[in-house]
Amino acid sequence: MRTTLPDQGTDWKTLREQLIDQGKDDIDWRNARTAVYVFNAGEDVLAVAKEAYSLFQSENALGPAAFPSLKRMETEVVDMGLSLLQAPEGAAGDMTSGGSESIFLAVKACRNQARAEGRLARGANLVLARSAHPAFDKAAGVLGLGVVRVPVAEDLRADPAAMADAITPETLMIVGSAPCFPYGLIDPIAELGAVARDTDTWLHVDACVGGYFAPFARMNGIELVDFDFAVPEVRTISADLHKYGYAAKGASTLFHRSAEQREHQIFNFDDWPAGGMHTPTAAGTRPGGAIAGAWAVMRYLGVEGYREKAKLVTDTRQKLMDGVAEIEGMHTWGDPRLGLFAYGAEDFDIFAVWKRLMERGWFTGLITDPRGIHLMLSPAHAQVSDEYLEHLREAAAAVRSGGESAADTRARYA
Ligand SMILES: Cc1ncc(COP(=O)(O)O)c(C=O)c1O
Repeated sequence: MRTTLPDQGTDWKTLREQLIDQGKDDIDWRNARTAVYVFNAGEDVLAVAKEAYSLFQSENALGPAAFPSLKRMETEVVDMGLSLLQAPEGAAGDMTSGGSESIFLAVKACRNQARAEGRLARGANLVLARSAHPAFDKAAGVLGLGVVRVPVAEDLRADPAAMADAITPETLMIVGSAPCFPYGLIDPIAELGAVARDTDTWLHVDACVGGYFAPFARMNGIELVDFDFAVPEVRTISADLHKYGYAAKGASTLFHRSAEQREHQIFNFDDWPAGGMHTPTAAGTRPGGAIAGAWAVMRYLGVEGYREKAKLVTDTRQKLMDGVAEIEGMHTWGDPRLGLFAYGAEDFDIFAVWKRLMERGWFTGLITDPRGIHLMLSPAHAQVSDEYLEHLREAAAAVRSGGESAADTRARYA
């Protein structure tokens, strides 16, 4: 039966109770047993994001003349991101609603530049590693472009030589991830830069997960390959604030190496009866709360706060990886150095282990190729790592001795 709008309103107290009741079957992410979808940096950070969001909840970044506050905050957020990612003078960027929109806009700018230069051929395409996020396929679908996915190398990172082989005269963009979602590995961005240079293609770095994490992990002494604008061929970078930036959801950034390049992203229109419409992103109305929330969390944490959170996460990741390595037949996939990793098993069914852990309240992801359990860690997971490892040891022992399998379990993120 279709729900209709009630004739009369309901008081807020009742509605509030109803809302809390609505969430009763949702996962309880506050207990730190969820390692996907939510980035939990602690109650204080959540409170800053929430209050800042609500202060600007009704304001609209579509109107910078009406809300210079939002324009100013967005500029400051973008500038902080550009500095963290070693952007050169003259670089530019925007806040968007999330990683998918940032990626969409990067692909749009790349396509529009090719069109403006008369290079947009029939069959124009993007070349991606198999581990790149589906947001590129989504964007390509909307923008009328093809996608060529290339198998990853033995180390599970993008394979620059294989990607170079897949590039044709129609290829507009190649992509590296920092890190990719499935394995948490940073692709060899400098090598992809060389490919982009030799083939005159646009190199986009998808740092949706790592953009606000990797710079701090590196400051903490973790060795990482170059992944940002320090690689001269990198033209755009997507970096999400609502992931390891710990901002309220609906906040990401897209950065361009130059302001001229960014021009190809912008929508400009005035052939209708209500004046010019000039929007830099896919949205019209843009929530002031998402901008204010990100601005406040970034200033609340500062470099010191982000470094501290990154250390908690990388220490926890290392501890979990060490614990996994101690279980006979289990291992991490690749050499992950940031906040997420995936691990598998040689002689028993890892999906059956995952199922057992789910039954004990651990809500985590899966990867299918190779098969593994996927953990995207938050600072809050430091509190539960011992318990997780204990449950993992028990689950692995039970699955191994019982020969259990869960062949029909499939990874799903939506
Ligand atoms: C590497 C990577 N890129 C892009 C995205 C898409 O981001 P969003 O879900 O904010 O659209 C994700 C999401 O997890 C991701 O992991």
